[in-house]
Amino acid sequence: MKDVTVIILPYVVLLAMILIAWPTTTWATLRADLTHVDSGRGFTKRELLSRMAARSTARAASLARAATAPVARGTTGKEDINSEYLVHLGVGTPSPQGVALVLDTGSDLTWTQCACTACYKQPFPVFDPSASRTLGVVSCTDPICSARGGLPLSACSVKGNQCRYGYSYGDKSFTIGTVVEDTFTFSGSAAAVPSLRFGCGMNNSLTSTEASGIAGFGRGPLSLPSQLNAAVFSYCFTTIVEPGSSPVFLGTQDSLGDDAQSTPFAPTPARGGTSSFYYLSLHGVTVGETLMPLNDASESADGSGGAPIIDSGTSITMFPQAVFQSIREAFVSQVPLPVADASETGGLLCFSTADPKNVAVPKLVFHLEGADWDIPRQNYVLDVDDDDGALLCVVMLSAGDHDMTIIGNFQQQNTHIVYDLQANKMVFAPASCDQL
Ligand SMILES: *[C@@H]1O[C@H](CO)[C@@H](O)[C@H](O)[C@H]1NC(C)=O
Repeated sequence: MKDVTVIILPYVVLLAMILIAWPTTTWATLRADLTHVDSGRGFTKRELLSRMAARSTARAASLARAATAPVARGTTGKEDINSEYLVHLGVGTPSPQGVALVLDTGSDLTWTQCACTACYKQPFPVFDPSASRTLGVVSCTDPICSARGGLPLSACSVKGNQCRYGYSYGDKSFTIGTVVEDTFTFSGSAAAVPSLRFGCGMNNSLTSTEASGIAGFGRGPLSLPSQLNAAVFSYCFTTIVEPGSSPVFLGTQDSLGDDAQSTPFAPTPARGGTSSFYYLSLHGVTVGETLMPLNDASESADGSGGAPIIDSGTSITMFPQAVFQSIREAFVSQVPLPVADASETGGLLCFSTADPKNVAVPKLVFHLEGADWDIPRQNYVLDVDDDDGALLCVVMLSAGDHDMTIIGNFQQQNTHIVYDLQANKMVFAPASCDQL
């Protein structure tokens, strides 16, 4: 009897070890929750709109700088730019510490405030590296600690052979700290992935005080999808006016169904392009009866700036000034309502009307390579009806001085957007994001 127990026990222990280890080693799809930064904070639609407009304008300035000088210390930003949808993750073991990071497809480094020397205020405790058993330092000689590894500004700390980094976003936002690695827990899927590299940000500026840092989902080697070797990632944004959470998935992807369309990612422009960005080929825009072809981006002033990107971190879609002007005129000529003073609507085209909900608005279609993206009304029109009056606003902006075309997240609401990195294409389909 005794002998039998002795023989069986190791197998039981081994089996238990396999069961415990399984989620960390063979994840198929990781899931995490997303919330909108302004959700549940009691803003009116008018306030939401002006907050979005201010952030989007600053973001365009930031991305335009990124396109010309990847980590130049920025000076152009006025307000917080990187503050739209937050991804909620746990970092460290045995108790994962919660972080809320801006989901940013326009940059690569993931970082969270940590071991602070000069942190901004955040609404929950700052990540404490000493409380994690699995935290590891990344040495200066690690390939990641170099421009090729994705850190254009890195150095070796005098003490302890640790990789120091500085990363800035073209506006006033920046983070300075040490590259570390730890286990990330994806709450939605209860899976833990060991040894992901991220910035322990000790001196940071990010005026979004709702976020503890940024989750880099760009194309570079340092980004979360790259580190996870994910063939695919996807997200689905709930509408900004209805609070709720929705998912981001990393890993394999089920089919999106019969409504799905796909368009290839375009190559990064040779001159002035940014390797983190997801470029698309956008051939034209239809507003109601008017089709506006877009010039080949290579004809734009700096040879690249006009090349369209899809971005999770910009709210409002933007076009170069001349393109925006034609889109604006197309709306004005097809909507028989008085135009509101643009200086009072943050540069947005708004119409005065007593009954914004019942105005017939011209359809909006983005003609991408191989896909016509018919934008649902609620993804380009916001009805504002409050004490200050009623407006119907077209939620698109001019990129001003910046020769940028950015498809922003307002246009992506309730759309499941798949970044198929393996097949180098974007797949998208309408979805009820809070149901996924
Ligand atoms: C934080 O970084 C900024 C910008 O580089 C610098 O001016 C400031 O002195 C730093 N603060 C601390 C406490 O290191």
